[in-house]
Amino acid sequence: MSHFYSRYGPARHPRYTKGRVNQEYDAIILGAGAAGLMCAIEAGKRGRRVLVLERADRIGKKILISGGGRCNFTNLHTTPENFLSSNPHFAKSALARYTPADFIRLVEKHGIPYHEKKLGQLFCDRAASDITAMLERECRDARVEIRCNIQIQTVHKGQASQNDDSTSGQFVVQVQAKSDSEESLYTASRLVAATGGLSIAKIGATSFGYDLARQFGLKIVPARPALVPLVFTERDRRRWCDLAGASCEVAASVPPTKKKLQSFRENMLFTHQGISGPAILQISSYWDGKQAIHADLAPGRDLVAELRTREHRDQASWKAMVREILPRRFADRWLETYPLAGTSDRAFIDAERQLHQWEINPEKTEGYGKAEVTAGGVDTDELAAKTMETRKVPGLFFIGEVVDVTGQLGGFNFQWAWASGFCAGQAV
Ligand code: FDA
Repeated sequence: MSHFYSRYGPARHPRYTKGRVNQEYDAIILGAGAAGLMCAIEAGKRGRRVLVLERADRIGKKILISGGGRCNFTNLHTTPENFLSSNPHFAKSALARYTPADFIRLVEKHGIPYHEKKLGQLFCDRAASDITAMLERECRDARVEIRCNIQIQTVHKGQASQNDDSTSGQFVVQVQAKSDSEESLYTASRLVAATGGLSIAKIGATSFGYDLARQFGLKIVPARPALVPLVFTERDRRRWCDLAGASCEVAASVPPTKKKLQSFRENMLFTHQGISGPAILQISSYWDGKQAIHADLAPGRDLVAELRTREHRDQASWKAMVREILPRRFADRWLETYPLAGTSDRAFIDAERQLHQWEINPEKTEGYGKAEVTAGGVDTDELAAKTMETRKVPGLFFIGEVVDVTGQLGGFNFQWAWASGFCAGQAV
């Protein structure tokens, strides 16, 4: 018998062939993260026999580390505009069917205390483990089986014409327990890939979902790290990185695409390699790897006009003003790097423009090891927006981060995971 970790006892229909365990379900969900667990709960509540297969030794590892350990589980102000995708309309249906209010109801049903930190971002008062415990409890109530510590070997779909009736038209998942060499075959007419993106491999991220999509001939929008710190060029590292730890409010933007300017007014933080902080994480998702990023270091301020109201309009008053706007160390470095070229009107206008339009040309991002999410993924053209089922392969679904829908910072990625998981859970 398998040594798989199973919280809810053995499957209901085990069969044994040549030492292998064969078990049948209505739906198999690959990945016990936010999206997979939500899908499992909803399908289980509909009376489906559901199996969740998870590679890691426990469920929801990313939930546990999210939001600095407090899980920013949704955002009150979620709109489709908070998401990036090759098809900006795709997420609308799912986001409308399962809203932040729906998830809040679930959180409140379980008596989990939470608070709004800022900008509609909801966090647990205690710990992110409140959310995983809630999902686990809901799975148990919906009679969902979860198996952790497994390695998925192969996935295929039995051909309807095959003689082997048992797998005809069914998905067959061949699995091995990590602890021994015993194999199991699980079959189901519905298969849901909820294996997430490539961010943070050390807690279990794999390319499995993308590989599965390719295996079934589905298009992928190239994946890239998003919500990720940026690395300066060697020259800028030498110039700025000893300021690591200094932060200030900026409005970060990239040149507008399709006439839409994305700009984020939040903090920017110097790191040992470059820049990070909420404003930079946000804009990193829109950065194409080549264009310059603009940081307005004095957002909303008209410095030349402010200078006019001061007693003196000279080098000293300009320095004093820059030191009011930027942290001292950064201000001094800025003034060294971009000294005022005289005291003419032109010089002040140019110096102000420089502060409003600091042009940063990062060398690269810090990559998947530091990225909060993966942008790109399974092309939404391949999926039905209402159910997340693939058009080409009936019964095959993709949900959560593996899909080409990426949220901005602030609880939107979990909202997408809950919403897409919910929609698939109604359909499997
Ligand atoms: P998720 O990655 O959660 O789950 C996928 C599951 O599949 C994992 O359990 C994984 O082990 C499993 N898996 C992978 N390969 C497998 C295989 N081959 N076989 C079986 N199982 C496999 N978002 C937000 O809204 N608010 C926040 O506060 C944060 N904070 C945050 C912090 C950090 C450090 C990170 C890295 C990310 C965040 N996020 C976030 C993003 C958020 O965590 C993410 O978008 C969701 O977890 C995505 O949910 P999924 O279920 O799609 O993937």
